[in-house]
Amino acid sequence: MSAAREHFGSRLGFILAAAGSAVGIGNLVAFPVAATKSGGGAFLLVYALFVILICLPVMMAELALGRHTDKDPVGAYRTLSGGSKLWQIPGWLALITPFMIAVFYLVVTVWVLGYLVETLGGNLDRLATEAYFNQFINSPSVFVYLIALMLLINGILALGVKDGIERAAKTLMPMLFAILIGLVAFVLTKENAILGVQYYLIPDFSKLTPDVLSSAMAQAFFSLSLGMGILITYGSYMESHQSIPGSAKVVALTDTMVAFTAGLLILPTIFHFNPQIDPTELSDSSAGMIFLFLPKIFLALQDSIGYVGASAFAAVFFFLVLVAAITSLVSIIEVPVATLRDERGMDRRKAIYTVGAVQVVLAAFCAVSFGMVQWFTEFVTLAGANKSFFDLVEIIFYDTILPLNGLLVCLFVIYRWKKANFDQELQDGAPGFAGSFSQRYVNFALGTFIPVFLLLIFINTVALKFFGISFF
Ligand code: TRP
Repeated sequence: MSAAREHFGSRLGFILAAAGSAVGIGNLVAFPVAATKSGGGAFLLVYALFVILICLPVMMAELALGRHTDKDPVGAYRTLSGGSKLWQIPGWLALITPFMIAVFYLVVTVWVLGYLVETLGGNLDRLATEAYFNQFINSPSVFVYLIALMLLINGILALGVKDGIERAAKTLMPMLFAILIGLVAFVLTKENAILGVQYYLIPDFSKLTPDVLSSAMAQAFFSLSLGMGILITYGSYMESHQSIPGSAKVVALTDTMVAFTAGLLILPTIFHFNPQIDPTELSDSSAGMIFLFLPKIFLALQDSIGYVGASAFAAVFFFLVLVAAITSLVSIIEVPVATLRDERGMDRRKAIYTVGAVQVVLAAFCAVSFGMVQWFTEFVTLAGANKSFFDLVEIIFYDTILPLNGLLVCLFVIYRWKKANFDQELQDGAPGFAGSFSQRYVNFALGTFIPVFLLLIFINTVALKFFGISFF
């Protein structure tokens, strides 16, 4: 490649882009629900500990790998593999994983876009009916939304790192923060809202079972975009005088704060609608909450703010989720794009067309696996249950391979690239980090208990999802 590597224009640009990647649908919906069901404040506490003690070191490892090699994940692992073919496998996994996660995440984002458009068209009452979701996801309009979304995201990517990814993050992220805070401020003034806050925050340590701990850990890991090759890629766009530990901390803090704040929106909204609700009955899945449960709650707001007010509230919420999803998709689709450019020497445009063409087809396969096409709907049988193509992609790449990727990053950085080289890279831009307690902790943790933790999660997921065996 002749052209110089693209870089983020500023530290803030990098931080917003990485935070945009990390903040997604899960932060806004899955996290608040999981926290409420699993011990409130106690869950928040262990989640924060996982972020600091386990996720931050992995985040630094990925960023350092990318920045040191100035390459996409495949290239990064190859450069430092010392010629070993085996050590190049994590690179390929860090290419295929984001590629496939993007595929199923695209489909969910398409539904969010559809719900936003429907709400703006005055149809909130329809969205709030039980049958609508099924009808909507099986309607041909999903393909129109899919094309529109692909054009938007790839349009951002086509403008490059600084003018596309960074500029989009600088516009969209402040907007996301403002909308989120605005919605929270509005909903907290509503009757019974405070009950929701109580449910969300009051700690119940008895709920912290091994199962809860393992899913809190998995959630923290996924939420921060770890194991997806994204931070390796974004690290390669970082300038070397910028502090990796410092930036990683800000990104992790932002992601966690957004997830926390979303709880101050979701729970009060639900309790305003029904102060007697038993939150343990809420759906675990973000999709179940966003498309089946929340529309009913939004519609019920019409009693206090009228139908137009309720529709406006719902539309702003769907827009918020859409923005969060778009910045995540931008980051994840950039990984295969960067790989095609670095490894195959393609120009940005051609790489985008290539990735986009395959993804649109696979996303369409996912979209038709809710009844439109029988073969994709009943694609495989896992642990005795029918799984669609969509389910399979999610289970393999989101649930299973992510912790494996995280594990491989830790082992690679500490035992193949070696501690001393990793340290050297971290010190670049963070001179105070050398010899600090944090540095010793990061080195020790990455080489010992973090990979063990991730291995346990990996084994547990494989046993549960593929064989129906539950250890906890
Ligand atoms: N935090 C995201 C979520 O809550 C998960 C995620 C992180 C993600 N990075 C991503 C999803 C990139 C899609 C693409 O949903």
